Amino acid sequence: MSNPATPTALGVLDERPPLTFPPGFLWGAATAAYQVEGAVAEGGRGPSIWDTFSHTPGRVREGHTGDVACDHYHRLGEDVALMAELGLKSYRFSVAWPRVQPGGAGPANPAGLDFYRRLVDELLAHGIEPWLTLYHWDLPQPLEDAGGWPARDTAGRFADYTALVADALGDRVRYWTTLNEPWCSAFLGYGSGAHAPGRSDGADAVRAGHHLMLGHGLAVQALRAARPEAQVGVTVNLYPVTPATDTPGDRDAARRIDALANRFFLDPLLRGAYPADLLADLRQVTDFGHVRDGDLAVIASPLDLVGVNYYSRHVVAAPVEGVAPEPYWRSPSCWPGSEDVRFVTRGVPVTDMNWEIDAPGLVETLRRVHEEYTDLPIYVTENGSAFVDEVVDGRVDDADRLAYFDAHLRAAHEAITAGVPLRGYFAWSLMDNFEWAWGYTKRFGMIYVDYESQARIPKSSARWYAEVIRRNGLAA
Ligand code: NOJ
Repeated sequence: MSNPATPTALGVLDERPPLTFPPGFLWGAATAAYQVEGAVAEGGRGPSIWDTFSHTPGRVREGHTGDVACDHYHRLGEDVALMAELGLKSYRFSVAWPRVQPGGAGPANPAGLDFYRRLVDELLAHGIEPWLTLYHWDLPQPLEDAGGWPARDTAGRFADYTALVADALGDRVRYWTTLNEPWCSAFLGYGSGAHAPGRSDGADAVRAGHHLMLGHGLAVQALRAARPEAQVGVTVNLYPVTPATDTPGDRDAARRIDALANRFFLDPLLRGAYPADLLADLRQVTDFGHVRDGDLAVIASPLDLVGVNYYSRHVVAAPVEGVAPEPYWRSPSCWPGSEDVRFVTRGVPVTDMNWEIDAPGLVETLRRVHEEYTDLPIYVTENGSAFVDEVVDGRVDDADRLAYFDAHLRAAHEAITAGVPLRGYFAWSLMDNFEWAWGYTKRFGMIYVDYESQARIPKSSARWYAEVIRRNGLAA
């Protein structure tokens, strides 16, 4: 697929200026447990909501599940060797809560922790900094059965689990993120139902969002207690939200979606308060009776860094009476109270997810976090693109993905030049993997995975990224 807005030919890239990143910039790649590990019934692992969801007919494309995924659980050595070949400075992975606490509570399962100990030791042996995410969406099923994230108790359970992981791995892991993309856990999991556990209730989604953040705050405190030297943060997925036109209606639509997508999380986490306009917009959905005194102070527990996942921009327009909006993530109900806002496509190039490619949006996003919210170090904890890949003579020439990375790294550099304390960048993803509701039909990896043979083939983008890391920047 060719893409006129971003360079697709190395010849075009060559016309651009060379860019050097600050010394010590943390170059990495990311994955998540359920997306790569497989081995769902090994080492005493219990079921998670994604096991249940993916095994429910009709939930995931082509009935795909994470049962085997990239078989990373059994191929940890090979995969870390590939990371070392790429010269990765850091690897961001997640710990599967149901491996550590198969029932979601109680003492740690030693075999579960042992897998991550081996992974971390292997990374360290190769000089790769482990970056540990505590929650990348795989809630133990028993906790969902007890109410899931809409239930307050889940937040406390998450802090207990965090303490177990901190005790086991805190001596060798420096960088921690608590949650990955709580918007998705709350609003796709409990709003649209496009993600596990597949529930669809706006008030539950809002409660889930609050309890995820409460769990985050309690987890930060647990980590601090166990490991004062840990570098602790949270990863949010942010989108610039742009009105389709400069009319008051479109501007208000943008304000509403920005409140739900971005400020719902940024404001409590970094300012200790929900935005007033969000509370007003959600009045018909919930009375916020689930928020207790003191919660916001816990949620705003001081952090050491902020993780930003960036993929695209939302362009939105005012509702049109009598016209149903295009479904977003299968259903508009991931925008409680603002279901009628229309998401507009601009006709610019898109990835295989149909997400518009918008590198300037990364500059905007990073500047916003820094200029409006915090002086903390910021890391791009995910950025990347799905494209259709073809293996030709044992090689995968993914020029579009390479161009996407190039454009976004230039944007990251521009943000640094503008004063953003951006300290690292993690490509999503190290390798092709289970893309949630899309199963294996979408490929985000820099390394191609042949799911039949489990062979790994580094794509052109991987070789290019290795060179970027080697130079600490982009070539002329
Ligand atoms: C964000 C999520 O963290 C990750 O799990 C997912 O695969 C990518 N975005 C791509 O959708």
